[in-house]
Amino acid sequence: MNQVWITKAGPPEVLDVREAPTPTPGPGEVLVHVEASGINFADILARQGLYPDAPPLPAVVGYEVAGTIEAVGEGVTKISEGDAVLALTRFGGYTSHIVLRAEQVFARPDGMPAATGAAIPVNYLTAFQAMIVMGGVRHAQELAGQRMRVLVHGASGGVGTAASDLGQVYGVELFGTASPGKHDYVRERGYDHAINYRNDGWVAEVRDLTDGRGVDLVLDPIGGDHWSKSLDVLAPTGRLVVFGFSAATGGGKLGMLKAASKVPWLRFSPISLMNANHGVLGVNLGHLWGMQDEVSGWMRKLLRYYEKGQIRPHVDRVFPLHDTVAAHRYIEERQNIGKVVLAP
Ligand SMILES: NC(=O)c1ccc[n+]([C@@H]2O[C@H](COP(=O)([O-])OP(=O)(O)OC[C@H]3O[C@@H](n4cnc5c(N)ncnc54)[C@H](OP(=O)(O)O)[C@@H]3O)[C@@H](O)[C@H]2O)c1
Repeated sequence: MNQVWITKAGPPEVLDVREAPTPTPGPGEVLVHVEASGINFADILARQGLYPDAPPLPAVVGYEVAGTIEAVGEGVTKISEGDAVLALTRFGGYTSHIVLRAEQVFARPDGMPAATGAAIPVNYLTAFQAMIVMGGVRHAQELAGQRMRVLVHGASGGVGTAASDLGQVYGVELFGTASPGKHDYVRERGYDHAINYRNDGWVAEVRDLTDGRGVDLVLDPIGGDHWSKSLDVLAPTGRLVVFGFSAATGGGKLGMLKAASKVPWLRFSPISLMNANHGVLGVNLGHLWGMQDEVSGWMRKLLRYYEKGQIRPHVDRVFPLHDTVAAHRYIEERQNIGKVVLAP
C-alpha cells in the first residue's frame, strides 16, 4: 500500500509518499481499499507542527476515508467484501489501504461517489455538533416561523458548506463570512448574507443587517482576537462556538503564541459571560473518539439527510495521493472552495 507521511514539521514539501506492506484485518476488523481521503485544515496545522492533537512526527495523518471493503476479519458479520463504505479514522487516512474496527465504518449510500463520502464525516459532524447538538439551533417551525440567526466564519470551506446545508434544513437565517472572491459560492450554497471578514468592517455589517440586535449563534474557527469580534455580534442569550484556530497558521510557533495572546480571556470568564448573557462553547470532534455510539447516531442522521437530498457536499478538487504537496499548498493558500480530497 501507499501512504503519505509528514516526515517533519515544515512546508508542504515535507510530505512524502512511501510504500508499506498492506495490513491484514484481525478479529472484528475490516480492510478498506481507500478510494478517497478527506483533507482537513487540522492536517495543515499538523504538518506545520502547530496541531497539539497530531501524533508525534513522522506520522500519517488523515481523519476520514471512503472506499470499498477488501477483506473482513474473523467475527465480522454485518459488512462484506465489496461493500462501499465511509469512515472516520483518527489518523492514518492518507493511505491506499487501512484496517479499521468494523463498527467504525458506515455503508456508503447507493450512488454516492467515494470523493463525496470522504467529504462528509469531519465537516458535517463538526457542523452538526456545533449547530444542533451544542449551538441550540431549532427549526423555524418550532419557533412559530421565527428564523434563528447563525453566523458562520469560513463559510466557503468544508465546515462552512456543511453548516449552510444544515442551516437550510433547520430554516435559519444564514450569515457567512469569506474572502470576497468566494462570495458567489457562499450565496449559491444558501447563505442569505455573504460578508467579507478580511477587514474589520464585518462587525458593523452584521450589526446593521440585524438591526443592531446581533445573531443567536456564531461558529468561529479563526481564534485570536477574532473571538472578541464574534462576541461583539452576539445577541443577548446568544452562543459562540469556538472550534479552530486558523489565525495561528503560517506564523510558526511565534504566530501561534501571538494569536493565543489575543484571545479575549477576560470576556470568556464566567462573570463576564453571566453579565453578557452569552455562552461560549468548545467543539473538538476528535476528542469524542470514545463516544462512538453518540457520534454514530449523528452520522446516521446525516446520511439520511444525504439520501433525501438535503445535504450536498461540495468537492472542489481531487488530487492524486502522490500530489498531496500540491493539495496542501492549495488549501494553505486559501484557494479551496469546499472540500479537497486525495485519491490513492
Ligand atoms: N474542532 C473540530 O472538531 C474541527 C473539525 C473540523 C474543522 N475544524 C476547524 O474548522 C476550520 C475550517 O475547517 P475546514 O475543514 O472547513 O477548512 P477548509 O475547508 O480547509 O477551509 C479553509 C478556509 O478557511 C478560511 N480561512 C480563514 N482563515 C484562514 C487562514 N488564516 N488561513 C487559511 N485559511 C483561512 C479560508 O477561506 P477564506 O479565503 O474565505 O477566508 C480557507 O479557504 C479550521 O480552522 C479547522 O481546523 C475544527
